[in-house]
Amino acid sequence: MEFLRLRRERVYDPILRLLHAWNALLVVLLLLSSQVAKQLVFDGEAAALWRIHLWLGYLLFIGLVARFAWGVVGPDHARWAALWQPAAWLDALRQRSFFSVPSGIGHHPQASLIYLIFYGVVWAMAITGLALAAIDQGLGPLYEALGHDYQHKSLFSTPHDWLEELVLAFVAVHLIALVLHERRHGIPLAQGMVSGYQYRKENEQ
Ligand code: HEM
Ligand code: HEM
Repeated sequence: MEFLRLRRERVYDPILRLLHAWNALLVVLLLLSSQVAKQLVFDGEAAALWRIHLWLGYLLFIGLVARFAWGVVGPDHARWAALWQPAAWLDALRQRSFFSVPSGIGHHPQASLIYLIFYGVVWAMAITGLALAAIDQGLGPLYEALGHDYQHKSLFSTPHDWLEELVLAFVAVHLIALVLHERRHGIPLAQGMVSGYQYRKENEQ
């Protein structure tokens, strides 16, 4: 029987891991609250849940700002430059290899492109969400500019509603990819954002 030899390295710092957990939990709660609020029949209950959705939205906004700042001042593996890997993306395209064995230390190069797109999408959710807070609930930092401006509501509610599908798709793909990497490549990947350690096959870089 052949044993797989793995080496481990400390890669993800505690603040990055905390921000990952904070933002991931809030994304899940925002998805849940909007799905349930859409199904509610009674106006009062729906309004209360949309208010909770908004508060969760503020908390996610804080998490996104913190992640952005950590990408500028944090350690190497948390920096935006670590996610920006155009040479690896071109290589993957040339070799038509979109699900490669995790090898180098740090973010998986193909996944990092998806993470960047995901951050773009949630920032758009946060900005359109703040506009909807002003229009629908008369609250938030955009109240002066957009308070109860129902004429322009669809400008914000349409993208906010559409992008929700992308957020849902990202969460599903991210979780499935983590499980598939572990099963196909035999590397404990998912725990990396909890323990901070990455495991790699011993003979690889
Ligand atoms: C992953 C993130 C999010 C998801 C999946 C999500 C999902 C949704 C969905 C599906 C709607 C209903 C849109 C419609 O049918 O018109 C909605 C409404 C809304 N969202 Fe979000 N949202 C997210 C983030 C945010 C954030 C960050 C904020 C605020 C900063 C926010 C504030 C709002 C507000 C104020 C409404 C309107 C509620 C009302 O009708 O009173 N959302 N959201
Ligand atoms: C369900 C909501 C989740 C969302 C929205 C989410 C989002 C993200 C994002 C945006 C990144 C990029 C990290 C960065 O900012 O540098 C990331 C990476 C990562 N996430 Fe999640 N995540 C979720 C759940 C999870 C769960 C449950 C696990 C497993 C414990 C996990 C494990 C990881 C790992 C290991 C990475 C780094 C992978 C790599 O090296 O490329 N995530 N996630």
